[in-house]
Amino acid sequence: MADVILETKNLTKEFKGFTAVNDVDLRVQRGHIHALIGPNGAGKTTCFNLLTKFLVPTSGQILFNGRDITRDKPAQIARQGIIRSFQISAVFPHLTVLQNVRIGLQRELGTSFHFWRSEGSLSSLDERAMALLDEVDLSSFADTVTADLPYGRKRALEIATTLAMEPELMLLDEPTQGMGHEDVHRVTALIKKVSQGRTILMVEHNMNVVSGICDRISVLQRGAMLAEGTYAEVSKNPQVMQAYMGTADGELEAGHA
Ligand SMILES: Nc1ncnc2c1ncn2[C@@H]1O[C@H](COP(=O)(O)OP(=O)(O)OP(=O)(O)O)[C@@H](O)[C@H]1O
Ligand SMILES: [Mg+2]
Repeated sequence: MADVILETKNLTKEFKGFTAVNDVDLRVQRGHIHALIGPNGAGKTTCFNLLTKFLVPTSGQILFNGRDITRDKPAQIARQGIIRSFQISAVFPHLTVLQNVRIGLQRELGTSFHFWRSEGSLSSLDERAMALLDEVDLSSFADTVTADLPYGRKRALEIATTLAMEPELMLLDEPTQGMGHEDVHRVTALIKKVSQGRTILMVEHNMNVVSGICDRISVLQRGAMLAEGTYAEVSKNPQVMQAYMGTADGELEAGHA
């Protein structure tokens, strides 16, 4: 029996009669980097919004560590360890890199913030912040104003602020979107690195990234689950190839992305 951290059962979301997510059964194994792929409009982001409770499902169930979280609120989900990057953890451009991570840590502390203050342990907060920066290879940028960071480094900072919230499951929606070759490489390696001891579910269009680091891939098409398996399996699936043919020629071929 696989150790499933996240599972959806018949997950469905309708918008005024239009079914954006249709009867989706998704199973994410603990410790995996799991990719959610599919042509534009397939329902990937809607799926993410359901998982993080930004949207309420029309029907179906979401289980996290075997527990039904379908009716939980966004804050409850986050407290349980499901953290979505590049959304909750928006960074403040006028603050330094270190200040941004500290804010992330304080947010994570929540009500226990007073404990830190009374202990006078702001320096240990700094220590933890520096350790997180080190983890994403940003130590040398600690005092840089965030707005001055190169694009790929900003994404690394966003990952650090997500890590500050101690995620058990990280959700990344197109983490390499809009990046040049070098940044894609850097952020991909970073995702692989921070996946140690965690689980990652990511939407990704770049098939080099998917084939390079993802253990398992689910393919959505028009809201429904079309295929699931390893990259080798789904990339050979005739239905998947056909689904992609209409959008970008050879998009499923790593090396073309
Ligand atoms: N709030 C909404 N109201 C109505 N329709 C919506 C809403 N949100 C999404 N949709 C529709 O649901 C479908 C799925 O959209 P979604 O954004 O989930 O796709 P996606 O797979 O993330 O696409 P992309 O690759 O372009 O990011 C689309 O047809 C979209 O127009
Ligand atoms: Mg999307």
